[in-house]
Amino acid sequence: MQHLIDTLDLSDAQIAQLLDDARAFKQQHPSHLLRDKLLITLFFEASTRTRSSFEVAAKRLGAAVVHLDPSKSSTNKGESLEDTFANLCAMDPDGVIIRHSENEAPGLLADMQMTSVINAGAGNYAHPTQALLDLFTLMEHFDGEVRGKTLAIVGDIISSRVASSAIRLLTRMGMNVILVAPKPFMPQSDLPKYERLEDVLNKVDVIMSLRAQLERHASPIFDDYEEYAEHYCINAERLGSRDILILHPGPVMRNIDISDEILEDPRCKVLTQVRNGVYMRMAILKLLLLDS
Ligand code: CP
Repeated sequence: MQHLIDTLDLSDAQIAQLLDDARAFKQQHPSHLLRDKLLITLFFEASTRTRSSFEVAAKRLGAAVVHLDPSKSSTNKGESLEDTFANLCAMDPDGVIIRHSENEAPGLLADMQMTSVINAGAGNYAHPTQALLDLFTLMEHFDGEVRGKTLAIVGDIISSRVASSAIRLLTRMGMNVILVAPKPFMPQSDLPKYERLEDVLNKVDVIMSLRAQLERHASPIFDDYEEYAEHYCINAERLGSRDILILHPGPVMRNIDISDEILEDPRCKVLTQVRNGVYMRMAILKLLLLDS
């Protein structure tokens, strides 16, 4: 039984296989490889992209998917996470895809060894499937070689599981990762740190813009996000004609993270990331449910 809790769970060979399989799924009509499989999605936090992407990926491969909405489940009657999971596992799913506010939640369920557990985003530490789909998008754009490319992560890095997973995976793949944020959004890190976006624009190949995660701030960090946007919004004036790829995991705060104009610009790959997410998650389901 294999789990995906963090990209560190994957060998280099498995990452290469995921990229190959995602590319193949994108090029050819999906097969029904998982026709006899059943997956359960269990999202304790809101999601548009990740949940629907996993459900589309599973259905494209012929699997059945059941979603349990925790807000309408017996969690409301005090049932613990472990008991909820054990009861779902009593129905013999082939995997449970979980999103949770606690960093440790997916690993804790994986340790129960009842079914494959896939982390669909936990706390501020790991969102491995987002990192993998971002890697797939970067590989596609840079013709299969990201080594030596420089990526700036811009925004609320300290709160971001997307940033945390991207740093672990993309540095492992040989990318230079630099961090750009105002002091309250900057984590402790050995990576190069900058406060001004203007100081990095001439040295990056990719910008990964992040949303200010207001729901994770105990108290407001900025009174006015317009002022934040003045310094960090990726807009046409700031970007100019530079050949910089723009990524964002979504949801995008329009004209705060990225301007309306740049969201329409061919350099911006936000919807390509979403499209690629389905193919990468198909590859992940194949790896965990068939190949392991
Ligand atoms: N990228 C991402 O995790 O988006 P959702 O929160 O909509 O799933």
